[in-house]
Amino acid sequence: KKILHFDVIDSTNEYAKKNFFKLENGAVILSDEQTKGRGRVGRGFISNRGGLFFSVVFHSKLDISKLPIYTQLASVAVFKALEDLSINAKIKWPNDLYINGSKVCGILTELVGSKDFHGIIVGIGINVNNKKDEFIKQNICASSIEEETGLKVNRSTLLEKILLYIDEIFLDYEKNSDFIKYKPILTDNSLIIGKEIEITFGNEKTIAKALDIDEFGNLIIDFNGQISALNAGEVHIK
Ligand code: BTN
Repeated sequence: KKILHFDVIDSTNEYAKKNFFKLENGAVILSDEQTKGRGRVGRGFISNRGGLFFSVVFHSKLDISKLPIYTQLASVAVFKALEDLSINAKIKWPNDLYINGSKVCGILTELVGSKDFHGIIVGIGINVNNKKDEFIKQNICASSIEEETGLKVNRSTLLEKILLYIDEIFLDYEKNSDFIKYKPILTDNSLIIGKEIEITFGNEKTIAKALDIDEFGNLIIDFNGQISALNAGEVHIK
């Protein structure tokens, strides 16, 4: 596996995006620290030493509409890698993993390329052996695997496992287009399904109940008896 390992970088997603056409399919950009870690919706992602920050490059002609599916598949890969280490995480749609109710992992999938050549970058950030104060100091509600489980996980072991699962799951999906097969993992281990959630759309907040995930990776919600599918958004447990 080709891993480009940096000590410090601005953002592995940014590097992967900039060098996308030079990087081979499956290339991995890893950094021990990021100075401008990127999160969803224009947010930052604190990326201090002790965590695992990497991006995987995929050269594949895919439909933009499939992006949510790839994000969900990446969550499945991280979930399974943690499970192998006897760590029970919860998946928070669309892209985070939680342990004991605290966020320890965020995933940012980005689409790259022009009309005739698309690919995706799957960026994964995991707080592995970080201290909770690092986040508290910056007023960010997050934690780490070590803080939540007391386990000091070897970062390379975790990375290796995640990369194996990503390869296996993404190849399987490219071949069979069967996302539903992964649905039980996503719903059985969901942090939000079956719960009341608060959904933020721009400045508006709505309360709904999270019911399920559909075949497109959308979240099915019940909003005052009206059932609808959310394809993106910020959700929080009430
Ligand atoms: C989120 O929580 O909103 C998503 C966070 C994604 C963070 C990872 S760390 C590796 C990769 N490089 C980035 O700049 N972001 C992703």
